Amino acid sequence: MEIPERLIDILEKANYVAVLTGAGVSAESGIKTFRDPDGLWAKFNPMELASIDGFMSNPQRVWEWYQYRREVVNKAQPNAGHYALVEFEKLFPQFTLITQNVDRLHQRAGSTNVIELHGNIIDNHCFNCKEPYYGETDLPEGQIPRCPKCGGLIRPSVVWFGEMLPPDAIQQAEEAAMDCDVFFSIGTSAEVYPAASLPYIAKRSGAVLVEVNPNPTSLSSFADFKISTTSAVGLPKIVEMLKKRKGLL
Ligand code: OAD
Ligand code: ZN
Repeated sequence: MEIPERLIDILEKANYVAVLTGAGVSAESGIKTFRDPDGLWAKFNPMELASIDGFMSNPQRVWEWYQYRREVVNKAQPNAGHYALVEFEKLFPQFTLITQNVDRLHQRAGSTNVIELHGNIIDNHCFNCKEPYYGETDLPEGQIPRCPKCGGLIRPSVVWFGEMLPPDAIQQAEEAAMDCDVFFSIGTSAEVYPAASLPYIAKRSGAVLVEVNPNPTSLSSFADFKISTTSAVGLPKIVEMLKKRKGLL
């Protein structure tokens, strides 16, 4: 897949670049996406495992599933796509990275100021009083940690279906979409709102819209540039071409 020179022209002049990432950027780190044919939602029911109702009706099942996903995430390493996005930060005068991912791989790669729309899978808090929980999580089978303050059940600090996104995060993301010159939608099916509205907000506000995804999405026909390759292949290429153009390589 060739990266169009015309995109590099635009990036060379861009003052403000914003990026939205989804599960696809972590696929090459060995973390399964949700909606691909071998994705998590092909095997598991999101309403049972990633919703408030699912947690209330069977907290044990939900807790164990997240403990399993944490193990996968802890063993995974950032890939070339994550590292290329660390370079993006240095290549544009203004840059915002917005992610739907909960795996913290952007931060582990070295990205700073990441806007986490769906929380993260590392931290926990009390389902009842919302107090952060730093205690033991590795309990014998069949047990869920309890809040030392109120005795409530402890849950992962991710955003579930039916929950509001952190208000600051979505507001900052919408502002970035409105203000940027170029908006990248990378490795996301762009199916889950409100995150999926960000590329449309950007485009409506006059940004050039770029999609990096090996597969077509509902956004593809709307994008100004469709880079049909994986993020670990496409993003380092973009960085290399742009660095050459700027005389940095
Ligand atoms: P999806 O699983 O819906 O979409 C993943 C996208 O990544 C698909 O469009 C794939 O084509 C693409 N993809 C696969 N491999 C790729 C690669 N190596 N490089 C680039 N792209 C690749 O994941 P998200 O869009 O992130 O929310 O899903 C959004 C939200 O739905 C998630 O945050 C999660 C999920 O339910 C909650 O759990 C609340
Ligand atoms: Zn509590």
